[in-house]
Amino acid sequence: MTVPARATTPALLQIEAVLSRLAGRQALEEVCRFLRQSFVHYPWVGIYRVEGSDLVLDSWDGPQATEHTRIPIARGICGQAVRENRSVVVDDVRSDPNYLACFLETRAEIVVPVHHEGRVVGEIDIDGNSVRAFDASDQRFLEAVAAKLGPAVVASGAEPHPD
Ligand code: SME
Repeated sequence: MTVPARATTPALLQIEAVLSRLAGRQALEEVCRFLRQSFVHYPWVGIYRVEGSDLVLDSWDGPQATEHTRIPIARGICGQAVRENRSVVVDDVRSDPNYLACFLETRAEIVVPVHHEGRVVGEIDIDGNSVRAFDASDQRFLEAVAAKLGPAVVASGAEPHPD
């Protein structure tokens, strides 16, 4: 699916409004809720923060909790996005050997790093329920969202990844 161009600016303005009203984890929880509510193809939205050599689940919104609340940066698609310092889009999780399974419904995943002062401090992780759920418009949009989240992720306790 896609994020229509006409939806991008209003969504980013909403996120800015959330970030001016709330700080740290409260802000991130609200951002997760907003993204899930606004885009039907974002059924599970999480934000992880970097803590030493791990990613720690900071905030999430979705139908179920994940058991992956702490993921070594060495593992998973979540770890890959930090190691390679880039967004990772997986069209079909069943054919990616890096994938750490969370939910039976998940068929695609997108992970976008969050930076602060040039370092990776966390990431947005979205699980989709259909193969190829995410395209370049999702990546562009979520990179624009991630560009706003650095201070909130740091306020929530992130320790930058030492690269
Ligand atoms: N699938 C992720 C683990 C986190 S859950 O999707 C919430 C991964 O492969 O790193």
